[in-house]
Amino acid sequence: MRFQSLFLILVVLFASAATNQALNIRDLNISDPYVIDIAKFAVTEHNKQVTEGKLKFEKLVGGLSSDVDDETHYIFNISANNGSTSNRYLSYVGEKPPNHFYLALFEILPK
Ligand SMILES: *[C@@H]1O[C@H](CO)[C@@H](O)[C@H](O)[C@H]1NC(C)=O
Ligand SMILES: *[C@@H]1O[C@H](CO)[C@@H](O)[C@H](O)[C@H]1NC(C)=O
Ligand SMILES: *[C@@H]1O[C@H](CO)[C@@H](O)[C@H](O)[C@H]1NC(C)=O
Repeated sequence: MRFQSLFLILVVLFASAATNQALNIRDLNISDPYVIDIAKFAVTEHNKQVTEGKLKFEKLVGGLSSDVDDETHYIFNISANNGSTSNRYLSYVGEKPPNHFYLALFEILPK
């Protein structure tokens, strides 16, 4: 599946140390409030980084996660509104326990 191959490439890009370890890629439960909060974090963090085109989170559409060394990495397919249109966005978030999250990538997905 395309989303899964993309995630594999990104995991390898963002976590050079992970290349020798078996990647355990899981589907996300998009109803899980914990997971939804991390997707919202991605939008909030993106909004901090841009001066124009701030987005309003609408919905988590899909995603995957994987354990990478002592972190958990997430890739999200997010629906968000830019003030005029709802678009899908791809984002990549790392979770470093305890409680540190960072946004590594945030891009609009082609329609
Ligand atoms: C994101 O979700 C939308 C709606 O389900 C879907 O059409 C699109 O293909 C997804 N994008 C990716 C990269 O999986
Ligand atoms: C997904 O998360 C929701 C909300 O926490 C929970 O009710 C549901 O059982 C979970 N589904 C699976 C397949 O774990
Ligand atoms: C919102 O997204 C649409 C579709 O990508 C784009 O045409 C439009 O210019 C964007 N509007 C703003 C305010 O960024």
